[in-house]
Amino acid sequence: MSTDQHPEAKGRAGGRVVVVTGGARGIGRAIVDRFTTEGASVIIGDLTDPGEVATGLDMTGQREWITLDVTDELSVQEFAKSVATGHGGVDVLVNNAGIMDTRTLANETVADWDHTMAVNLRGPFLMAKHLVPLMDGRSDSAIVNIGSIEGIGANALHASYAASKAGVHGLTRALAVDLGPVGIRCNAVAPGWIDTDLNRNYVDKHPNQAQAVTDLASLHPVGRIGDPADVAAAVLWLASPDAGFVTGQVITVDGGRMTRLSIPASLADD
Ligand SMILES: NC(=O)c1ccc[n+]([C@@H]2O[C@H](COP(=O)([O-])OP(=O)(O)OC[C@H]3O[C@@H](n4cnc5c(N)ncnc54)[C@H](O)[C@@H]3O)[C@@H](O)[C@H]2O)c1
Repeated sequence: MSTDQHPEAKGRAGGRVVVVTGGARGIGRAIVDRFTTEGASVIIGDLTDPGEVATGLDMTGQREWITLDVTDELSVQEFAKSVATGHGGVDVLVNNAGIMDTRTLANETVADWDHTMAVNLRGPFLMAKHLVPLMDGRSDSAIVNIGSIEGIGANALHASYAASKAGVHGLTRALAVDLGPVGIRCNAVAPGWIDTDLNRNYVDKHPNQAQAVTDLASLHPVGRIGDPADVAAAVLWLASPDAGFVTGQVITVDGGRMTRLSIPASLADD
């Protein structure tokens, strides 16, 4: 569906059909909001009904929710069928749904490992497998995967999470190579610390939350942690024709955290 077919469409994603997994809350919700504001029709695929977790979320107009479990191929196939029936195709797929698992190696069972891999890595694979056929005949189609700076470095106790996100970055490059010839670009965004439910627990359980927030901000050259909207802005650009010559890339959106080399406090100038 191009803007030509929808002369009334406007905005940077006007007339585009956009699928966002895990769009009920957090980063996914911000991506949904941004694409909707920019004129897209957005389909949220999530385990959770966004109306239940986001009070005041406007589900009318250019957005709808279809139940989806990205780990389950049947669920993904049903989802793809509904999207095809309702919209005739897809222009942009944003693989955002993800979970974090924090365990020692000794405590991590095979089931724990497999579950993280199923959501974070099998999910994007299944979504691409069953939604790419819906991109057939569209122009400027794009997949944007949400990876992580933990696909580049790693926090303690994050073996399955870090491995899954490194896998997402690899999948991104592989799909860019395979799908480029059929006109589909594939990139990833690797967010740093973004203020969502996923990591708010770390701050909430800290005895001095204000200090924890200040300490976190100080890790970032830009002086703050990230907002879900920061990630949404990068996704919008990667999905747009403005990024038409960009594929197979992992764009870090972390306020410079990964760029600044660490130095002991005793040797720092200030
Ligand atoms: N928050 C951060 O700091 C951060 C940093 C780097 C990467 N990320 C990545 O960004 C993405 C979104 O993170 P978030 O912080 O918004 O998380 P979140 O926990 O706030 O939201 C995740 C969403 O995914 C959905 N989901 C979970 N399992 C699913 C499944 N099997 N099928 C369909 N939907 C499912 C949840 O219902 C929820 O709506 C994840 O891939 C995460 O790894 C987050």
